[in-house]
Amino acid sequence: MSISKTLETRLSLAGKTAVVTGAASGIGLATARLFSQLGAQTVLLDRDPDKLKSGVDVCAGQPGQAIGFEVDLGNAAAIEKCFEQINDKCGGIDILVNSAAMNVSGPSVDYDLATWQQVIDVNLTGLFLACRLSARSMIDRKVGGSIVNVASVGGLSANITGRANANPSYRATKGGVVNLTRALAVEWASLNIRVNAVAPGYVRTPMISRLTDDPAREAATVEKIPLGRLAEPEEIGWVIAFLAGEGASMVTGQILPVDGGLLA
Ligand SMILES: NC(=O)c1ccc[n+]([C@@H]2O[C@H](COP(=O)([O-])OP(=O)(O)OC[C@H]3O[C@@H](n4cnc5c(N)ncnc54)[C@H](O)[C@@H]3O)[C@@H](O)[C@H]2O)c1
Repeated sequence: MSISKTLETRLSLAGKTAVVTGAASGIGLATARLFSQLGAQTVLLDRDPDKLKSGVDVCAGQPGQAIGFEVDLGNAAAIEKCFEQINDKCGGIDILVNSAAMNVSGPSVDYDLATWQQVIDVNLTGLFLACRLSARSMIDRKVGGSIVNVASVGGLSANITGRANANPSYRATKGGVVNLTRALAVEWASLNIRVNAVAPGYVRTPMISRLTDDPAREAATVEKIPLGRLAEPEEIGWVIAFLAGEGASMVTGQILPVDGGLLA
């Protein structure tokens, strides 16, 4: 096979159905757009109906088709129903990207328990359910598959910039995503289901708007990043696309920081 043919095959997602959660914004949206450019039938999930519609429109006209489902990933019954509908409509799931997450910071001594539970429900339980519902579809069809979770450098270190950052629920769930990724990778390896994660550093999305709206704070953060800038969402999307596709066929159970050298 020629090099260009090999490259095309290794990067192409043609013939695959890919589900992306949190796909109406930021990293999820950039990933969904790339996936549809790479030929996947792309299913965008989000709880925000208006942004979801715009997200599907962004993917329109690409080689892969895109459809959207509104779902709250903090609601277990709704997730089950949504994946049933995806299986019915698309005939199965080959790739899953879990990008949806909540981030509610606050000091641990006063942190509201209802908020704690909500963050756990979305960031960890919702992600786990999406993983196993996708795995069931892959197992039923005996096709294998690939799952990429979006963790965070905050799941690998609590001292990223050397400044205190009170955010117990987010940090706990991202640490959970890191080890759940490893555990599922080992559990499902014999079924040819690969499970990996990216751990982004600082990415220019609405999630960190409090930081990017404050030029002094942004500058102080950028100073700590060896590459000297924030990441753009698509720079995380490309790494996700690599891990999701055939080019990473021997990679599983890995957490890949995409952080401009922050953790180096
Ligand atoms: N932006 C960063 O600097 C950064 C850094 C490290 C990790 N991450 C991770 O990247 C992922 C994507 O974040 P982003 O930066 O693109 O943020 P974002 O706010 O742009 O996008 C998050 C999306 O998730 C959706 N979502 C949130 N809760 C949901 C729920 N209950 N049900 C359905 N959808 C829900 C939101 O509607 C939104 O569209 C998250 O897992 C986040 O923790 C982001």
